[in-house]
Amino acid sequence: MARSFRIRQMTPGDFPAILDLDRKVAGRERARSYQQHVSRYLDNYFPPLCQVALDGDKVVGFILGDVKGWEYGLGPSGWIDIMGVDPEHQRQGVGLALIRAFVAQCRRQKLSAAHAIVRGGDRRLQGFLKAAGLQKGPLVDFYAPLKE
Ligand SMILES: CC(C)(COP(=O)(O)OP(=O)(O)OC[C@H]1O[C@@H](n2cnc3c(N)ncnc32)[C@H](O)[C@@H]1OP(=O)(O)O)[C@@H](O)C(=O)NCCC(=O)NCCS
Repeated sequence: MARSFRIRQMTPGDFPAILDLDRKVAGRERARSYQQHVSRYLDNYFPPLCQVALDGDKVVGFILGDVKGWEYGLGPSGWIDIMGVDPEHQRQGVGLALIRAFVAQCRRQKLSAAHAIVRGGDRRLQGFLKAAGLQKGPLVDFYAPLKE
């Protein structure tokens, strides 16, 4: 049965719970696009954009991002770096609510857009981002493969 939850802005006091949650979703649960851990992002995050989902006072989801865009000739925009929802709370709208809160904060911060990067073959995460109202963006990835 779907449980109720609320969304609020992330604070440093949430970090231990976020790290625990991230350990829970790492490995098999983690989308193909995002194999790294949340600890990598906690130094550079932009607090106004970042949100947690709470069931009572328990953190059951998080979304973490920062502001960039100049390097690509885009206006300053919000970038979703990593997110996670407790497996017991997945498919109950928590992820969508976190993205919507992130996008609403981008708007409040007068940023020009909200972005997320995913692997081309990661249909699961692409479907989720489309369900959240995001569309294919203006950037294209170029690379030089160095292995046969
Ligand atoms: C990806 C993730 C954040 C989605 O969060 P969630 O709370 O389960 O998502 P929601 O319940 O808000 O899903 C909303 C919609 O997105 C799509 N969706 C979500 N998870 C999906 C899945 N596993 N397969 C296909 N579609 C999915 C569906 O359209 C879904 O709507 P529906 O349940 O009515 O069909 C969550 O599964 C997760 O934390 N996964 C592990 C960590 C991870 O991979 N993070 C992603 C990038 S860092």
